[in-house]
Amino acid sequence: MGAGWVGLVTGACLAELGHEVVVRDVVEDRVRALASGEIPMYEAGLEASVQSAGDRLRFTVDLAEVVDEPRVILVCVGTPAMYSGDADLTAVHGVVRELADVGVPEGTVLAMKSTVPVGTGTTIRKELDDQGLGHVGYVSNPEFLAEGTAVKDFMQPDRVVVGGDDDAAADRVAQLYVALDAPIVRTDVASAEMIKLASNAFLATRISFVNEIANVCDATGADVTEVARGIGLDKRLGPHFLNAGIGFGGSCFPKDVNALKQLAGNSGYHFQLLNAVIEVNELQKRRVVGKLTKHLGPLRGKVVTLLGLTFKPDTDDMREASSLVLASRLIAEGADVRGWDPVAVEQARALLTGVELFSDPVEALADADAAVIVTEWSQIRELPFADVREMMRTPLIVDGRNLLDPAELRKLGFTYEGIGVPSA
Ligand code: UDX
Repeated sequence: MGAGWVGLVTGACLAELGHEVVVRDVVEDRVRALASGEIPMYEAGLEASVQSAGDRLRFTVDLAEVVDEPRVILVCVGTPAMYSGDADLTAVHGVVRELADVGVPEGTVLAMKSTVPVGTGTTIRKELDDQGLGHVGYVSNPEFLAEGTAVKDFMQPDRVVVGGDDDAAADRVAQLYVALDAPIVRTDVASAEMIKLASNAFLATRISFVNEIANVCDATGADVTEVARGIGLDKRLGPHFLNAGIGFGGSCFPKDVNALKQLAGNSGYHFQLLNAVIEVNELQKRRVVGKLTKHLGPLRGKVVTLLGLTFKPDTDDMREASSLVLASRLIAEGADVRGWDPVAVEQARALLTGVELFSDPVEALADADAAVIVTEWSQIRELPFADVREMMRTPLIVDGRNLLDPAELRKLGFTYEGIGVPSA
């Protein structure tokens, strides 16, 4: 249920594993496009996966095709944040109501892939029972897919989490994944829900932690990339999610960290650590402004070019991207802001009002006072920096992702500022 990013990747991959999959969505245009082979998003390997699934993967708007036999129904609908920070479960409850309206055969299992607050399973169990669906098993089966690597994350997962208070229902969901070479974590529903939220919160915590270390490195002359390498070799800590930069964005981390904080708060617990993780992340996006003024003075009338606008490379997603906050901060400071991104051109046009967009990164840098690397697109590494140096009005690079080699750029005559790497 739901042909969004999670539903599509899940559907295509399960079909590739040999299952018969029907992906159902309420938006007719989307279903029509999908049925004719169009993939409405940029995700590596997804098109190939849909193609290789062949007839095992169907798309429909018709709920009757979902309840024609006792299927595992995977809920993959959106759970966006509300103003309060709580997850909005309207679409999730909508699925239960729709199923109750049409009736569901004995043996059907409802499995929750959407990210939901801990306790949602209990609420849904009651809803199912109250609406005449007591015979439907309920399982929490969270996804751990990252954009850009989602197909690989699905096919080669670190683990599959199956939380069920009813063994038969959980067995059926676990069965979907037996072809994968991955441990299956069987647990209760609430713990499965918490595993998802806690995993994302922990990863976000690592990022805010290393960003704070970077900020202290800035103040003390240590180099955060060296520090991260030294930390990461400790097996207890590991090397992942220790890249300092201008903060995390995307459709998951900001929303899920906030949702867990809110969930704790609603239960009377003040989750101090997560408050700090969120605050560090907000401030991190703004540190670039300080680095620019350090070299340029007041930014009024200065031309600042943002290189990369998406929340990370290899996606066209700009949800909660650091570029959004940074661009509006710079505009508020009076700077003339330019932007370049290799894929998110339409999204940027809609979201970044007041930013002049370029399709060529070199043109975007002509007569600029500063280049700010916001997203670590590999194309940025390939730029002809010697020429760029001649074209810029002030040869200043603020590298928000520590993507480039400081020594090389300084040799070419640039002023280079990274995040937590020593200034020249
Ligand atoms: C994330 C989780 O990785 C995934 O398991 C979950 O299901 C959804 O959320 P995603 O949002 O696609 O996936 O992106 P991810 O690659 O995890 O990066 C999130 C953000 O953190 C990006 O803005 C990225 O730039 C930032 N990041 C990541 C850092 O700043 N430093 C790092 O070391 C790693």
